[in-house]
Amino acid sequence: MEKTICELFAGVGGFRLGFDRLESGWTTKWFSQWEPGARRQWAHDCYVDHFGDCQDLEGFYRTGDDIATVPKSAVPDHTLLVGGFPCQDYSVAHTLASSQGIEGKKGVLWWQIRDILIAKKPAFCLLENVDRLLKSPAKQRGRDFGIILACLAELGYSAQWRVVNAADYGAAQRRRRIFIFAYRDDTAYGKAMAALEPDEIMSVHGLMAKAFPVYGIEPPRGTELSRDIVEVSDKFAFAFENTGVMHGYQVTTGRPVEKTEPPVLLRDILQSFADEKYYIPSEKMDKWVYLKGAKKIPRTTAAGHEYVFSEGPVAFPDPWDRPGRTMLTSESSLNRSTHVVADPGTGKLRLLTPVEAERLQGFDDDWTAGMPDRMRYFCMGNALVVDMITRMGKVLDQIVAQEA
Ligand SMILES: C[S@@+](CC[C@H](N)C(=O)[O-])C[C@H]1O[C@@H](n2cnc3c(N)ncnc32)[C@H](O)[C@@H]1O
Repeated sequence: MEKTICELFAGVGGFRLGFDRLESGWTTKWFSQWEPGARRQWAHDCYVDHFGDCQDLEGFYRTGDDIATVPKSAVPDHTLLVGGFPCQDYSVAHTLASSQGIEGKKGVLWWQIRDILIAKKPAFCLLENVDRLLKSPAKQRGRDFGIILACLAELGYSAQWRVVNAADYGAAQRRRRIFIFAYRDDTAYGKAMAALEPDEIMSVHGLMAKAFPVYGIEPPRGTELSRDIVEVSDKFAFAFENTGVMHGYQVTTGRPVEKTEPPVLLRDILQSFADEKYYIPSEKMDKWVYLKGAKKIPRTTAAGHEYVFSEGPVAFPDPWDRPGRTMLTSESSLNRSTHVVADPGTGKLRLLTPVEAERLQGFDDDWTAGMPDRMRYFCMGNALVVDMITRMGKVLDQIVAQEA
């Protein structure tokens, strides 16, 4: 089996870097990265600077176009489809033309992934999303993830998933994300997994258990998905836990008891004597103290209901002896979730430098150099912890080695 990849929603190339670092022969055949509404496509430019551009099968360069406009038959064949996609409303209805067909909401990127699975039938697919995906939407918990699993089952795939906090597996950032690994049932891997109990997959033999070891799974529970995706969309609700397996519409889920590893600490990634522009000016200090502090604010809803909005304090500055908090796209703006650190050289309070933001995600220093700082933080807030991909890639190397 060829070790070829197609990277969707590629950003600045976190998946690609993670696989390239393995140096085990993975080649990315095609990618797609387009920031809606943006005139200057910084992430696409950064990606192309590092890796070059790719033609599709019709000879066009469409890696920087909205993926929805790219004919999926033009996407080069690949073994592994990867991508970090947003948590959106995945509900569906029957199409007007046919009660067999389904139609999701426009602009929802899951349907682009599904279209490529239909057109290209890659053996494997590795996806990343926020952990909230398991519980969405609030009014019908688990519906959206149920739709994804039902779509995969319909296309002949099984799936394993795991919510991982990167800092629990040796990284420098507390970032909880769900990773979903789908595999075609007719692969050697699919057949090997089908012969195992779900508990054995979740605790020992599955890709997630190998990449992120656990002591065991508590207490495994199951459900069955309807074969009718519209019915899943209308009625399905389920309390998915942080790991699970789906095979043939049967779902088993449980809570992993993780064999955690020590994280990298903030002090290990900080630069000393950072440029003056990153320091907090004294006239802004009160505002930062207020934003980071605990508060109780009386508020009134649109319907006239009075309530007290309250939030606890955020550590200020961020402690050196812990991993970083989750980095958002708003990192470095005047915002409660922005990191504020004491510079190890001067002891004075400042924002993270763009290089420190890259280190929190495990990218090479200056990966995004050449962009305005604001865009460097934005791209890093959108990206993923590269080491997590490399860990799963190592297991994929073993899996692919068993395929014909
Ligand atoms: C969560 S980020 C993934 C970042 C990536 N994993 C990385 O390492 O940088 C999702 C990306 O999808 C891109 N995107 C959003 N809508 C898109 C579309 N319709 N077509 C192509 N890319 C899109 C966004 O610009 C964003 O960079």
